[in-house]
Amino acid sequence: MPQHDILVIGAGLAGMRAALEAHRQGASVGVISKVHPVRSHSNAAQGGINAAMPEEGAEDTWESHAFDTVKGSDYLGDQDAIEIMAREAPDELIQLEHMGVIFNRDERGRLGARSFGGASFARTFFVADITGQAILHVMYEQLMKAQIYVYEEWFVTSLIMDDGACRGAVAIDMLSGKMEAIQAKAVIMASGGLGRVYEPSTNALICTGDGISLAYRVGAPLMDMEMVQYHPTTLPSNGALLSEAARGDGAYLINSEGERFMGNPRNPYHAPNKMELASRDVVSRAERVEIDEGRGVNGAVLLDCRHLGREMIMERLSQVRDLGIQFSGVDIVDDPIPIVPGMHYQMGGIKTDVEGKTSVLGLYAAGECACISLHGGNRLGANSLLETVIFGRRAGSDAAQYAKNIDLPRLSEAVQSDEEKRIQEILSRESNGDVAAKMRLELGQSMHKNVAVFRDAEGMLETQAKVAELKERYGKVAVQDRGRVYNSSLLFVLELGYMIDCAEAIVASALDRKESRGAHTRLDYPERDDENWLKHIMVYYQPGEPRIDHSPVTITHWQPQERKY
Ligand code: FUM
Repeated sequence: MPQHDILVIGAGLAGMRAALEAHRQGASVGVISKVHPVRSHSNAAQGGINAAMPEEGAEDTWESHAFDTVKGSDYLGDQDAIEIMAREAPDELIQLEHMGVIFNRDERGRLGARSFGGASFARTFFVADITGQAILHVMYEQLMKAQIYVYEEWFVTSLIMDDGACRGAVAIDMLSGKMEAIQAKAVIMASGGLGRVYEPSTNALICTGDGISLAYRVGAPLMDMEMVQYHPTTLPSNGALLSEAARGDGAYLINSEGERFMGNPRNPYHAPNKMELASRDVVSRAERVEIDEGRGVNGAVLLDCRHLGREMIMERLSQVRDLGIQFSGVDIVDDPIPIVPGMHYQMGGIKTDVEGKTSVLGLYAAGECACISLHGGNRLGANSLLETVIFGRRAGSDAAQYAKNIDLPRLSEAVQSDEEKRIQEILSRESNGDVAAKMRLELGQSMHKNVAVFRDAEGMLETQAKVAELKERYGKVAVQDRGRVYNSSLLFVLELGYMIDCAEAIVASALDRKESRGAHTRLDYPERDDENWLKHIMVYYQPGEPRIDHSPVTITHWQPQERKY
């Protein structure tokens, strides 16, 4: 049985940052990922990473960054965690530069920042519109330099529990089909988000909520799951993201009348001060209103970049331009491009403290799969890359210290053989049963229809019934390929199981929260209700329906106020 002090599940930015820190503190570390690390979804983060950097010439402060994040979260974010993020951001950014990330510079040679939604200052540092990709490749170089062992293209099927503590994971080596129990003193879950629970989504096909479900199944509560972010600028054809960087660099949103609707009081979500750079939940709602009230263009509104000019677009937004040309046949240099709000990010996830600890001993979480809760009801753009590196590092550090004080337990061989039997049962089912891809589409379309920018009980109950039906059918879902080598058919079935767990938790939380806050806008409860709902919703796994509980929001400096942009 392979053994490590720390096993990190996921090799995106949070996972690699956690692994590097645990290694730096002397732990033996293994990283396991179902894709090659540089294919992780952090790759898709485009616009940048936030930090208040007064030394780079702005009048910005960490307090301003923290307050913007609290306000962006619609006061649901935990302010102790937000303070840590805002205070530690500048050092973390400089460390990334020292590792080798070549951030854009301004004309004076200082780090150059762009504006992002909901921010009081331009504090988003960037590498053109490929920031996540640039950081991910540098982080992978660091991982290789440190000679950290990577289980590349291994798929985790369950966590190993021993005497109430998490002590590793059972996984399939996709290339050979062999199953292996990998033992560890602590596990850091850094497996990313669940975007594909929705269809369409800006997320890669690999974002199927694996780690969220694995942690949930061993007893870790999920928190803020009702808070699902719709990004204001995605392509209607396939859900691909057009970075907020376009609006940050000055692009407009216009309706069929050519009007910048974010400035028109006719739209209840207009934002006269911030216009296109209000927070994402606000802009997405405003877009939906324009489209639903008949001021859209073929079911979309338009992102207009023409006035930015070819030179700026080519230098700072070339990926946005390429995406528009390839998937919509529109060159943003010459024409406005149709866009719609699209599912982008899960604010909720596995509940952790600020060191990444979950309530399950030995199990940590960091990155999109975790919920500290930094983002509360709505995440500000470019705070997610920041979260991965700061809280990845903190989780790696705490886990390394924890591992120093315990011995690896002797695990029973049954840990692996029981899991092999479970997988073998799936493989030996009739091949003419339900098809995972079809069920996945049904799930995603129902979530997008009813648990999206606007929600109400009737629609959510319809989706809850659909999820229950899919859960029932899941017991008979077929696997077309019975082989062992690179059996993607089997992996799709296992992913579907994870997605159903995540969807169930989202819908249960969304039905529970009887108010509108952040990304959770209920037509049947249109107002924010601090008296009854200034609290987190936690979901616990149990047979049948999940169990719901609540926990208080941590407030340090900023009392809830009316939220206007
Ligand atoms: O629009 C974007 O570039 C996305 C950034 C983010 O989600 O943080």
